[in-house]
Amino acid sequence: MLRLFRVLVSALARGGIHMGLNRIDWAVGVIAPQPSDHLLEVGCGHGIAVTKVCDRLGEGEIVAIDRSAVMIAAAARRNAEHVAAGRATLRVAELRSFDLGGRRFDKAFAMRVGVFTRGDPAREFAALAQLLKPEGRLFLFHDEPSTGADDVGAARGGGPSPELAGRGTVGADF
Ligand SMILES: C[S@@+](CC[C@H](N)C(=O)[O-])C[C@H]1O[C@@H](n2cnc3c(N)ncnc32)[C@H](O)[C@@H]1O
Repeated sequence: MLRLFRVLVSALARGGIHMGLNRIDWAVGVIAPQPSDHLLEVGCGHGIAVTKVCDRLGEGEIVAIDRSAVMIAAAARRNAEHVAAGRATLRVAELRSFDLGGRRFDKAFAMRVGVFTRGDPAREFAALAQLLKPEGRLFLFHDEPSTGADDVGAARGGGPSPELAGRGTVGADF
């Protein structure tokens, strides 16, 4: 099944942080969305990557799913302009049962989604095989979250990450 698409990246985002980049900026740089790309994000959380992907899109689009309605609501607030413009579609959904009626994507990605590193992702890979075009690409990113915003800021050589400031603990075991 994995031959249907190429697994390009399972990497440490800290490499990007050491280059002075936010981990999500770095990952989006690796994904390198093209203006006409159709992308799927699994486990979008607050939708930060959605924003950064949309900033690179022209006629393309991103569909982002998260099984948490709270996270999708937050992502929708952050990306209201992109949703209104038709560049972003946000759905409460679990990957293993996500069905878009045969639509297929050029690229799919997930960042810090536990099932790919700590679970048994057979059903998730089966779903992705149905959701990607035959030459589609899958990008999986994993790093161990920092314990706090100050740690992220220190790794970046500055103060607390503006995306994470105010949160006591960054990341959770999903
Ligand atoms: C640790 S957060 C990471 C959020 C974001 N990708 C990031 O890197 O900051 C993992 C997110 O994935 C979602 N998630 C976990 N497993 C999922 C699945 N099988 N299908 C859809 N969403 C999932 C969780 O609800 C959570 O919002």
